[in-house]
Amino acid sequence: YQRQVKTTGFPIYLDVCITARMGEIMTTRIIGTGSAVPKQVVTNDDLAKIVDTSDEWIRPRTGIRERRIAAAESGTTDLAAEAARMAIEQSGIKPEELDIIVLATSSGDCCFPNGACEVQAAVGAVNAVAFDISAACSGFVFALNTVHSFLSAGIYRTGLVIGADTLSKLVDWNDRSTCVLFGDGAGAAVVRAEGTGVIGLTMGADGTKGDVLKCGGRTTGNFLTGKKPELGYMSMDGQEVFRFAVKTVPEAIKKTLAGSGTELEEIKYFILHQSNYRISESIAKRLKLPMDKFPANLERYGNTSGASVPILLDELNREGKLKPGDKLLLAGFGAGLTWGTTLLEW
Ligand code: UT7
Repeated sequence: YQRQVKTTGFPIYLDVCITARMGEIMTTRIIGTGSAVPKQVVTNDDLAKIVDTSDEWIRPRTGIRERRIAAAESGTTDLAAEAARMAIEQSGIKPEELDIIVLATSSGDCCFPNGACEVQAAVGAVNAVAFDISAACSGFVFALNTVHSFLSAGIYRTGLVIGADTLSKLVDWNDRSTCVLFGDGAGAAVVRAEGTGVIGLTMGADGTKGDVLKCGGRTTGNFLTGKKPELGYMSMDGQEVFRFAVKTVPEAIKKTLAGSGTELEEIKYFILHQSNYRISESIAKRLKLPMDKFPANLERYGNTSGASVPILLDELNREGKLKPGDKLLLAGFGAGLTWGTTLLEW
């Protein structure tokens, strides 16, 4: 319906699509998940053929054995749409019921239109607003928290949250310090304002450390400068990122739990961004928790950036490991620097 906003000049009409009553506090429940990875498997041994590296170096330092790499003609949107279709199918809703789609990606296929709009078209979510969020490996958690804010405010009722990245298109395949770490993929969740769900969150950013993990866009060349625009590649100070993650993530987790009166022991799974198994081990140690509370799949996919948390969530869901009432703590961290958590009851 249309709502008239009172102004001193001309009346302004806002087209508002409110499916829940304003003022009624809602939480956000995940009602369907999905994930997609490219078919092409690239092992550590495969990489040893193109850069000076080895399985003996990669596996003990990271936990990664292989990753999936998207075909040249396939991109972030294809994977995002595939994961989205699975999540929609599992949720049992019709695509037309979606009010909002937020895609977290830092490797969108084009500058515009945004990837979320492409997904909207691909799945037929004709009533949804759609936009992207760029927060690298924290992206899915930021997107989920953003959609939760709309749902809990009663502005929208049903949302689709996606994390999708094809960092294989951004890494320098001559740089062994980065190219061995990343893989491509997408994960998605359909969320709805109902019942139990999100009960806490934390988000943070430190832009002063932006250079620690960076991927340049197009250089400023244009016809006036006579320089051709060139695409930048990813660069990273791995040890600095490592130190940041193992210090910041446990602090953010403790803050989130304290904010909602939840004890560490109540959490069934900590679904951490999959960047390095040693980072997860170090976080578990700092929290004095056993590793069986920290499921992992980066052995098979490497670091899929914004996709890693929802891919892992979808795997746990489809394996039947999540039961109603289970408390889950999702955590993302990465370029920006950024970090974020979502505490939810399944
Ligand atoms: O989503 C967030 C993304 N980023 C991360 O999570 C990264 C966090 N950091 C890390 O995971 C680790 O710092 C890395 C796995 C990236 C690196 O491990 P490291 O133990 O910190 O190694 P390093 O960077 O100190 O490098 C040690 C050596 C160097 O050789 P020298 O100088 O000691 O001779 C590197 O040149 O290992 C060399 N090296 C490699 N050797 C074989 C670096 N990359 C490779 C490689 N294969 N792929």
